[in-house]
Amino acid sequence: MSIEFIDLKAQQNRIRAAIDSAIARVLDHGQYIMGPEVYELEERLAVLGGVRHAISCASGTDALLIAMMAKGIGPGDAVLCPDFTYTATPETIALLGATPVFVEVGLDTFNIDPAGIEAGIASAERHELKPKAIIAVDLFGRPADYDALRTLAARHHLFLLADAAQSFGAAYNDSAVGSLADVTATSFFPAKPLGCYGDGGAILTNDDDLAEIMKSIRLHGRGDDKYDIVRVGVNGRLDTLQAAILIQKLSIFADEIERRDAVASRYAAGLRDRVAVPAMPDGYRSVWAQYTIRLPGHDRDRVMKALSSQGIPAHVYYPRPVHEQTAYRDYPIAGNGTPNATRLPREVLSLPMHPYLERAIQDRIIAAVLAALE
Ligand SMILES: Cc1ncc(COP(=O)(O)O)c(C=O)c1O
Repeated sequence: MSIEFIDLKAQQNRIRAAIDSAIARVLDHGQYIMGPEVYELEERLAVLGGVRHAISCASGTDALLIAMMAKGIGPGDAVLCPDFTYTATPETIALLGATPVFVEVGLDTFNIDPAGIEAGIASAERHELKPKAIIAVDLFGRPADYDALRTLAARHHLFLLADAAQSFGAAYNDSAVGSLADVTATSFFPAKPLGCYGDGGAILTNDDDLAEIMKSIRLHGRGDDKYDIVRVGVNGRLDTLQAAILIQKLSIFADEIERRDAVASRYAAGLRDRVAVPAMPDGYRSVWAQYTIRLPGHDRDRVMKALSSQGIPAHVYYPRPVHEQTAYRDYPIAGNGTPNATRLPREVLSLPMHPYLERAIQDRIIAAVLAALE
């Protein structure tokens, strides 16, 4: 039997009948764009995220873009972001003509290091840019250190945007992801902890004015009158079909988060004596979008080959820091460089992680990793 890295089929088998009925209802009413399921989903997302407004959109990338467009971020502005993240984070900054400044990350947290923020601001100013925002990424499902980041953002008058593409459903000091930053962007890409069957995303905030602007941008910059365009926007809507699917997935989401947590605990118990397992201090609750270990001092290629020979999938997220990617080589790096962000790509390895990973299979994965380290 093959081992899945993320088993979407097991999840689908669990709720297939409900999804079929939800899709059939959309086909029956025919409101494929901005149908009733879109608004129902938004209400549910706002409750889960602990905020007044959840605005669904076409992808996690659009969610980041729309949030920064609403803040008027553009040429001459600097946006601080971690140097170890998925490409959508710096991409949206650069697309708006603003300049990403790459900040160091924690070796154990994988997330932006608050201690690097002031170096990032100084780098931006050296380049004669105006520091406007911080994008904190909750990498692999673990929230960033939002207490520290909120303090820094307030001190330096920066907009704090959470890239929660991997962390929706997680929590930090008893507050839900969604309510931790000025605006939170998330993704419903199929492999995310809460994923649809295509592209999708959402933007969450408690800021009433910003919410209105973001809703308008999502619909081409529409004003009160459909044909009065009051600002430049995008076609950033979530399909009704995807909203209908997400509503069904929400009915099992809390249970799935529990199961992911149990899988993570079993990995930690089995591996922590031999490899660096993800740190999850008090106050942090991850949704384990990935279970990512570090193998400092080990031959990772050898481990990957050994796992692969036993049919165990394992992946490297991400093989390069952002500043080493061709498109991003010329942007500023905070301080004296980002040694952790540069080191992590050589050490990380993500193991199969999903709510339906059976104990016996997980035991095989753990045994295979330990054997490969001998
Ligand atoms: C950290 C991060 N930011 C942004 C995105 C973009 O989301 P999407 O693929 O829905 O555009 C992703 C996921 O793909 C991500 O992992």
